[in-house]
Amino acid sequence: MRTIAWRDGHIEIIEQTLLPHELRVVEIDTVDALVDAIVRLAVRGAPALGVAGALGVALAARLALRDGWSERTLAAEIERIRNARPTAVNLSWGVDQVLPSLPLGAEAVTDAALALLGREVAAERAIGERGADFLEKAVGHGRDEADEGRLRLHTHCNTGALACVEWGTALGVVRSLHARGQVLSVVVDETRPLLQGARLTAWELGQLGIDHQVVCDGAGPAVIGRGLVDAVVVGADRIAANGDVANKVGTYGLALAAGRAGIPFVVAAPESTIDLGTPSGEGIEVELRPQHEVTTWRGTPLVPDGTSALNPAFDVTPADLVTAIVTERRLLRPQRGETPAGRI
Ligand code: MRU
Repeated sequence: MRTIAWRDGHIEIIEQTLLPHELRVVEIDTVDALVDAIVRLAVRGAPALGVAGALGVALAARLALRDGWSERTLAAEIERIRNARPTAVNLSWGVDQVLPSLPLGAEAVTDAALALLGREVAAERAIGERGADFLEKAVGHGRDEADEGRLRLHTHCNTGALACVEWGTALGVVRSLHARGQVLSVVVDETRPLLQGARLTAWELGQLGIDHQVVCDGAGPAVIGRGLVDAVVVGADRIAANGDVANKVGTYGLALAAGRAGIPFVVAAPESTIDLGTPSGEGIEVELRPQHEVTTWRGTPLVPDGTSALNPAFDVTPADLVTAIVTERRLLRPQRGETPAGRI
């Protein structure tokens, strides 16, 4: 399954707002449609947004050629793609990766975007293997014999194929461990307010035949505190130079609970999620989403009339709570002073 692809001059995505009830692939053939899909989270997840950014520039370059856009119009349309969502650095990274090909023509930009897509697919597999190696070593001692040493994992939001292209990051680590026969069960936070865990991660784990249970977000830290999981593995939307990690809101509480319980808190992400231009988490813009996502569910009010909501889509976990950052190239241990920018 590929979450995002390029076919006959347009982008194809899985329309994620319809899952788990319907698996539908939709065509994106305008910049308006792409920006709308990104804003609505029809395509979402940091690595998938990186690919969407790169393919979006290819799409814009083709439309510019077809419709005779001025250079200024093309540049403005590309900026609209770049700014569709602020927190995942992958989106602007994807745009920037292919921009140097723009003067060479639409064909060259498309080639560059497809090459980027191929590299991201390879990165996902490498992250899965490295993360699985790490968790096999970090956990597994003193586990109940009846479980044959298999791991009980906890994850948040959706970091599987749907958030990437084909395999996943944190859920890719779970998949790699599962392929080794090492997964007993997975606890999945439902991930309010848009339910990426309940709708998307549970759907992916079901397709893969991996045993799982969905819990309310509020239950997550207590599940960890009661010793019901062996490790937490999450993705990231932006990792600052010092190792602070922005990810779906609710991640910070899991990191605190994991630290208190003394179990590994592992962040799995491609190098494209690392932002050396942002020194620490303080500099990361957290997307504030509309209130209605919290105060209603599919049009039905959930709160009394006049009640307002604050809806930050992400939080920032300080590096000192992160046991390991796993990318396709390296394993960093922020608690031991290993940061993306080097040793401190
Ligand atoms: O708002 P979303 O659904 O795009 O948020 C996604 C996440 O927070 C993921 O954990 C993150 O992008 C990593 S995806 C491999």
